[in-house]
Amino acid sequence: MRILPIASGKGGVGKSLVAANLSIALAQAGKSVVLVDLDLGASSLHLILGFNARKHGLGTYLSGAKVRFEDIIYPTDYPNLRFVPGDAEIPGLANISYRQKTQIAKRLLAIDDADYLVLDLGAGTGANILDFFLLSGRGIVVTAPTLTATLNAYLFLKNAVFRLMWDSFKPRSKARAVLESLKKDGASLQRAYIPEILGRVSEVDPASRAAFDMRMSKLSPRLVLNMLEDPKDADKAQKIRRSCREYLGMDLEHLGIIYRDDLQDVALGSRIPIIRYKPQSVLSQAIYRIADKLVSSEGDEDAFLDPEYLDDSYGAADTEAEADFEAKMDYVEELLSSGALTQGDLIETVRMQQYELGQIRKENAFLKAKMAKALSQGFKV
Ligand SMILES: Nc1ncnc2c1ncn2[C@@H]1O[C@H](COP(=O)(O)OP(=O)(O)OP(=O)(O)O)[C@@H](O)[C@H]1O
Ligand SMILES: [Mg+2]
Repeated sequence: MRILPIASGKGGVGKSLVAANLSIALAQAGKSVVLVDLDLGASSLHLILGFNARKHGLGTYLSGAKVRFEDIIYPTDYPNLRFVPGDAEIPGLANISYRQKTQIAKRLLAIDDADYLVLDLGAGTGANILDFFLLSGRGIVVTAPTLTATLNAYLFLKNAVFRLMWDSFKPRSKARAVLESLKKDGASLQRAYIPEILGRVSEVDPASRAAFDMRMSKLSPRLVLNMLEDPKDADKAQKIRRSCREYLGMDLEHLGIIYRDDLQDVALGSRIPIIRYKPQSVLSQAIYRIADKLVSSEGDEDAFLDPEYLDDSYGAADTEAEADFEAKMDYVEELLSSGALTQGDLIETVRMQQYELGQIRKENAFLKAKMAKALSQGFKV
């Protein structure tokens, strides 16, 4: 069974959308899939799937009510896809105990008749979220191209590496002591430079360092860049990759790009996942492409160890960004010629875009002024 935890750091970047639609795509490809809503307290997958929210879910199960785990794994309208909902019985994953977390993880890992276990995680970098993410070395991080989203994606991965370090070092070991001394000053943990910490651990406790390296060598998460607006956004993935390599000693595979697609709002409103609502849309096609990549890499689990393979994944994503942009434009042409998009709509869109450009210009002028000021004060770029 392959585990696909889906995380992000920043909220609202499309984790649940990817989790739900990718699960359907994998199920349609003949894989047996169990999709789990682990965004406890803020569950939304049932809405995307159009699933009856009144059924018992993980919250009821954890509350100790007499519900067996098997009973909360529900069949769905989609052949091969089963669903474990969250429910409103517990406030959130951040609040479940260590014992409850272990209980869920054990139950999930014991499912023995699934090809894929897809875990929709909440936003943030809480210990529980990191632990579910680390159930697999090949989890998926979804980000949008904005500065805050990419920064949060990177920080999420940095926290995952910290968590792995903490787990690899035995309690009372010298390596743990290095981390504990950093932890005393909470702020310095976020700013800590991982290669330097590892250097210190190598000196005082080489066995712990080796234990960490062993586990780290299996950690090669995959990136999905969602909500693209135009092909230029695609280079944001390279930035995250470079930071991960330089500061975390970790490589990242690019699993694919997805454009922002207005049809998603309509799909959401009608409670039908977009992949069923409009399988031909740019968004659905991007999801199918990701599912294809996952399925076709099944035979070659260690491909991520090959740097050329990873390089190619970025090249492919750039090509996808160009091609999908063309497809989006073709779609607009089609709407125009069929009359579905009126001259009035077009004028409104152009106006909105001009307004956004105006805002960007203002932001740019503001940043330039700040830069000029910093330079005049002797700040070096
Ligand atoms: N490519 C896209 N095109 C258009 N809308 C999108 C796209 N991706 C996500 N959205 C929309 O953005 C919103 C946030 O998406 P989603 O709920 O999947 O994010 P999330 O990361 O799971 O959020 P949270 O952190 O709150 O769980 C939703 O309304 C969704 O429909
Ligand atoms: Mg979500």
